[in-house]
Amino acid sequence: MHARRLARVKHDPQDMVAVGDYERAAPESLERLAHDYYRSGSGDEGTLAANRAAWARWLVHYRVLIDVAKRDLSTTILGSRWSMPTMVAPAALQRMAHPDGELATARAAKAAGVPMGISSLSTTSVEEICAVGGDCWLQLYVGQDRGFVREFVARSVRAGCRAIALTVDAPVWGTRERDVRNHFHVPAHLSVVNLVRPGGPTGHSGRGLGEALSWLIDPALCWKDLEWLREQTELPIVLKGIVRPDDCVRAMRSGMQGVIVSNHGGRQLDGAPATADVLERCVQATKGERADGVVLVDGGIRRGVDVLRALALGADGTLIGRPMLWGLAVHGEAGVRRVLEIMHAETSQAMALAGCPDLRSITRDLVERAS
Ligand code: FNR
Ligand code: LAC
Repeated sequence: MHARRLARVKHDPQDMVAVGDYERAAPESLERLAHDYYRSGSGDEGTLAANRAAWARWLVHYRVLIDVAKRDLSTTILGSRWSMPTMVAPAALQRMAHPDGELATARAAKAAGVPMGISSLSTTSVEEICAVGGDCWLQLYVGQDRGFVREFVARSVRAGCRAIALTVDAPVWGTRERDVRNHFHVPAHLSVVNLVRPGGPTGHSGRGLGEALSWLIDPALCWKDLEWLREQTELPIVLKGIVRPDDCVRAMRSGMQGVIVSNHGGRQLDGAPATADVLERCVQATKGERADGVVLVDGGIRRGVDVLRALALGADGTLIGRPMLWGLAVHGEAGVRRVLEIMHAETSQAMALAGCPDLRSITRDLVERAS
């Protein structure tokens, strides 16, 4: 650890006018090890960059002279009310960003009226996070010990989680090369509390996720395991990390309630397509198989207009990952609140300017891909 002073309260949340302000301020509040872990994509980071660029290529052919004096951004997804179509993506190890970690994020998500995805690799227990009282989803990684997974799911249900997002894009960890160079592992003062067991591995040594945390994921996990998972709980299950229409169809036929079109924020297979470019086909496949199948999308969403673009392409909702980590690092709970407030204000404004008083009016004809 170097002795560099970390300035946490230099900026005022109200001075942060865009999510990008938090991204730029975050390095002042984070050790390099943590900042590199949060920002990295795998390999050459081509997919990481493509995610953001792809949204910008969808141009919004706005409508005029529509009464947008009142806008309704709310929606109902899997039985829960969302105040806007953007939830907090599950992200690991949040107490590296701020001592309040996942609790700060949970409080901010609750205040904003949107669900929070709880990473299996949270540094606060699923029970403590759920006790905040917001709408929580469990993000699940499945390791080899299925008995342990069963118990973890049961615990999360008892704690109050309302849905499960099974991450399917990580049979092995993508290599984020900065993490390997930094000898990244779970910092000594933190623990992936939900998953560590007496005498078992802890993730406190190794160089990068591949060495530190490979015990958390079973590379043999496959479609037939979904039957087993389906039997463990009555909660809705969505598969997170899909980019192909045929996988969406298979998810629906496996009794899943939805999919999250995602490439893990460019952290798994570098070379995977940008989510904005595969979203529409994934929506068609999912809804074609099951009309009430839910499609969410993440990856590079940084502006309210990106949310509008995603909904125009057929998504029911979106998730944001890194932006709330930057907010958490700079201002703790207030920072995550501010990030969600900015996303709400920008989405509302994009809807007004595009002639959309509510989410139903965000239709496919609004966007066209620039050639
Ligand atoms: C993630 N993501 C992730 N996904 C997941 O299923 N379980 C996890 O534990 C994590 N952890 C995690 C940590 C960090 C630091 C990042 C940046 C991402 C992926 C996350 O849920 C989401 O798919 C992406 O972050 C979305 O992309 P953006 O918004 O970060 O561009
Ligand atoms: C990551 C894992 C933990 O992306 O999902 O770092």
